[in-house]
Amino acid sequence: MPVFADVDTGVDDAMALAYLFASPDAHVVGIASTAGNVPVAQVSINNLGLLELFGIDDVPVSEGAPVPLSIPLRTAEDTHGPEGLGYARLPETDRSLTPYDAAHAWVAAAREYPGELLGLVTGPLTNLALALRLEPALPRLLRRLVIMGGAFDYRGNTTPVAEWNTHVDPEAAAEVFAVWGAAWGLSTPTHLPIVLGLNLTENVAMTPSILGRLAAAAGSPSAQLSVLDDRGTPSAAANPLIRVLEDAMRFYFEFHFDQGEGYLAHLHDPLAAAVALDPDLVRYQSATVDVELTGTLTRGMTVADWRGHWGREHNAHIGVEVDPAAFFERFIERVGPFARGVGHR
Ligand code: RIB
Ligand code: CA
Repeated sequence: MPVFADVDTGVDDAMALAYLFASPDAHVVGIASTAGNVPVAQVSINNLGLLELFGIDDVPVSEGAPVPLSIPLRTAEDTHGPEGLGYARLPETDRSLTPYDAAHAWVAAAREYPGELLGLVTGPLTNLALALRLEPALPRLLRRLVIMGGAFDYRGNTTPVAEWNTHVDPEAAAEVFAVWGAAWGLSTPTHLPIVLGLNLTENVAMTPSILGRLAAAAGSPSAQLSVLDDRGTPSAAANPLIRVLEDAMRFYFEFHFDQGEGYLAHLHDPLAAAVALDPDLVRYQSATVDVELTGTLTRGMTVADWRGHWGREHNAHIGVEVDPAAFFERFIERVGPFARGVGHR
């Protein structure tokens, strides 16, 4: 299945890309770099460096807008590290970006695979919003859209009520949900975007033990990461992909620990990637979603109208339940063997 991945590569975005390239049922036809966790140029460096590490050729990477639609960019180096991948170092690469930007890449991919393309967004919705302005028929051209973003009847991770991807560019998120609402005059409710908020993704927590299972599946066992390790202790894994994932995850574990959440890391984006390929991993409830733009305390908050108070069509399938063990089973059975091949492609 053709997949277009719009990412703000960051640690969990990188793991989502690894999952897609490890999945035999995914054919990644394009990657969009979106400003978010780190500036857009750094996101592009990370995306190109990951393709070098994976040994993957012929996947175009397109750079998106440097700032959100109408506000300055806010980044999250405290969460993902100064370059967005924690302590990990990616190989040097001479790969280059497409001459066209991310919004044009979205439209070109959708037109190349009309009715077949799986769209995945694991960063702010800036470039998807710009793509919708370019091609209002985009919702009809996509087979499926999965958005990691928002928090539904659940606290935020960036403000008390707002989730990072929606808070970086609330206007873009509001525009996407509004357009999709209008565009989905289609009778087929299957066509509504799948929206995975923190209420769902925070059920999926990577731990040192699960990371150890991944390393073992890659034939590259290494010392299990521990909160007792010196900060920044480099991975001793023999496998180059496991080394990068361990060094990236260590920073992410340390961040979550410092937030009081434990020495673990929520895998928001890999879950979204897995759902893009197989929506049956999650249970949904449809609702009408909109984004608060003017609230003094609540700007960037995603609001779900489950009961039709607004009298507006449903515009989203909101993920409400997932089996984390089933997800990790699939993640390890795919990324483990994929990692074995890294360094030999
Ligand atoms: O709030 C979690 C989301 O924000 C994830 O996509 C993470 O990568 C950050 O972009
Ligand atoms: Ca992300």
